[in-house]
Amino acid sequence: CITMDGKMGMEGGNYTLTNKLEYASILIYHCPEGYYPYPALTRSCLKSGTWKPAPRRRPLQQCKMIECPNPLVLESGSVFPVQMQYFVNNKTTYTCYSGYSLRGSASRVCQVNGKWSGGTPICSRDCEDRCADPGIPAGARRSGSSFGIDDKLTYRCDEGLHLLGSKTRVCQESGQWTGTEPKCYYKHTYDTALEITEAFGSAIRENQEGKKITIDKAGKLNIYIAMDISDSIAEDEFDKARNAVKKLITKVSSFSVSPNYEILFFASDVLEVVNIIDFSGDKRKPLEEVLADLDNFKYDGEDNVGTNLNLAFKTILERMAIQKQRNEMLFREIHHVLIFFTDGAYNMGGSPENTVAKIREAVYMNNKEERDKYLDVYVFGVGSEIFDEDIVPLVTKRNDERHYFKVKDTTELEKTFDEIIDESKVVGLCGLHRNYDGGTADTIRQRYPWMARIDNTDRTVSKCMGSLVTRRFILTAAHCFKFEDQADKIHVTIGKNQVVNGALRIILHPDYNINGKQNEGIKEFYDYDIALIELKKDVDVSINIRPICIPCTEETSNALRLVGEAITCKQQEQLLFKNPLEEVSFISYDKKEQMDQRSDAKLKLQDQLRDDCIKLAATQVEGITPLNLKDVVTDNFLCTGGRQPTRDNVACKGDSGGAVFKDYDEYRTIQVGVISWGTNDLCHGGNSDVKQESSENSRDFHINLFKVVPFLKKYLGDGTKDYEPLVFLEN
Ligand SMILES: *[C@@H]1O[C@H](CO)[C@@H](O)[C@H](O)[C@H]1NC(C)=O
Ligand SMILES: *[C@@H]1O[C@H](CO)[C@@H](O)[C@H](O)[C@H]1NC(C)=O
Repeated sequence: CITMDGKMGMEGGNYTLTNKLEYASILIYHCPEGYYPYPALTRSCLKSGTWKPAPRRRPLQQCKMIECPNPLVLESGSVFPVQMQYFVNNKTTYTCYSGYSLRGSASRVCQVNGKWSGGTPICSRDCEDRCADPGIPAGARRSGSSFGIDDKLTYRCDEGLHLLGSKTRVCQESGQWTGTEPKCYYKHTYDTALEITEAFGSAIRENQEGKKITIDKAGKLNIYIAMDISDSIAEDEFDKARNAVKKLITKVSSFSVSPNYEILFFASDVLEVVNIIDFSGDKRKPLEEVLADLDNFKYDGEDNVGTNLNLAFKTILERMAIQKQRNEMLFREIHHVLIFFTDGAYNMGGSPENTVAKIREAVYMNNKEERDKYLDVYVFGVGSEIFDEDIVPLVTKRNDERHYFKVKDTTELEKTFDEIIDESKVVGLCGLHRNYDGGTADTIRQRYPWMARIDNTDRTVSKCMGSLVTRRFILTAAHCFKFEDQADKIHVTIGKNQVVNGALRIILHPDYNINGKQNEGIKEFYDYDIALIELKKDVDVSINIRPICIPCTEETSNALRLVGEAITCKQQEQLLFKNPLEEVSFISYDKKEQMDQRSDAKLKLQDQLRDDCIKLAATQVEGITPLNLKDVVTDNFLCTGGRQPTRDNVACKGDSGGAVFKDYDEYRTIQVGVISWGTNDLCHGGNSDVKQESSENSRDFHINLFKVVPFLKKYLGDGTKDYEPLVFLEN
């Protein structure tokens, strides 16, 4: 392309080229925050060597201040201040005339994304109308002003703005308007991460009405992800886009059983990274393999001069057709979710609208009413210039749901998916946690939100750790209590200073008896060293407080994504204890830093390794001999420590009762043991750093939760009480 007479630049900003001055290169203008490039956001280099749109002398390419749409559209009220234009950080306040009351925001600020903060202010009067006045969004005009059944409202946006949402809305008998609130967007308006999180997040997370993207059983959810990698999205963005996809599927998977995936990248051609046909029947691809396929995909931007958006939809349509042909009964039960990342621009293959219509036909099977919920088409508009008018016809339209989002850049996208699930709202999921390791008290808390500290106000020394296993129960070690201990003297702290509700009762394992082998010279006998504390009331689950998963429950099968009719306890055990040396973690208190820290150790599970691990107790602990070793260190104990074959972190005294846990994928944690006792107290004196490493002669023993399931089930699975029980597996 020609260099525009050397006037490629722009007042107040600059530009980049995706592929120098070659054919199909995109010139992208950049402005400082609060400004946008005007009149063009981008220009593309045509075969003829000219730019589209062609640069003009007037208006001169420049950075303009971002404005928000005209807010002076309020009916029956007044807006202050009245201005010709409203720029970033300008504030407006809204008051209603007497007799009218205000809904929506009383004050709004113009944000850097070209939108007003808060919601549309509406002044309305009590009246007999069936539907409430839906107001007039900033920048819009509305025709129609009666709100009775079947009354219709029509909206349009001021010049320079285009309308997203519903152009017309009809008042229904239910008192709700059809469609979604219309919004007027500038070309440079985008959605914030928070807005996307709220709208898209509600689709994949559980809420009061249950998950929207419903996942009942294995194989019922198909997710098709298509990502535009044509030059219309700059090459350096590819990795970020890929990371966003990885994040998205990891998040979705952490919330439910494994969906089937189709993942493709497209430009002039379609590159199929994960083929959904590989998932058919009993074959299923573990998430790890899907992620690996994504990692192994090499980006080669060289020849991507075209964009064939239609071909991407066609590929998905073909995949659907194959599935439908193979098993129509099964196909009827599948919920299809299409998620596209594109700027909406295409220069090959024509408009995808017809293909999308065929996809709808394929899923609806002439029964849209009933089958509507089986199809969702989401588009994330990503890129320097997004062609809304081409995208809007493609997405699903359903009352009060958004399926189209505009993202400022791909970095934002990854962050969005990271935030997408507001964990506080997902009550039912055990072991869910944030995965940021900032190393501050807050991030530790969010990473280990089940962690509890137990104090006995009667005694000064006895401090223990525990884990929240349901909203009502703390799991800990029995030796943290004396038989005479009163529940009302027990203090449970979850979080930094949050003393929780108080204990109602302490339940020790019935077979626990510390003195059980005194006549054999064993001073303290720790078999079945496990206890539950029932709290007086349920704790409130939040991002900082959430139960951990424990073995042999359905909740844990879900976290492990074990799917099928008859998952057994054994299957969970085989998955969690699949290696001879199984990496686990526990929390230790770092006295120096005055902070909880994660310690790591390896369970010695394989017979010989375990024998080697436990036999040391016979040389270190008074009363234990090779002869009685296995009666004292029973099969109920897991063993860590020593230096062979690897060094472990050791547990310190105050760590007793704490969880020995495993993280599964990035977001779920399952407790497999409870810290019970050890041969040496290497943390003596309290000045050691926490990640104290094991010595040749130190061993830690933990109660294996798989060995105490009947006890856990008796209390935690009790459905006759006033608390929510866990669902234990039959076998
Ligand atoms: C281009 O403009 C952006 C935004 O104003 C600025 O952050 C960046 O440093 C500029 N780059 C160059 C090379 O001038
Ligand atoms: C609105 O924003 C513009 C640009 O930042 C500023 O110059 C102006 O003073 C603001 N007006 C008000 C009333 O704050």
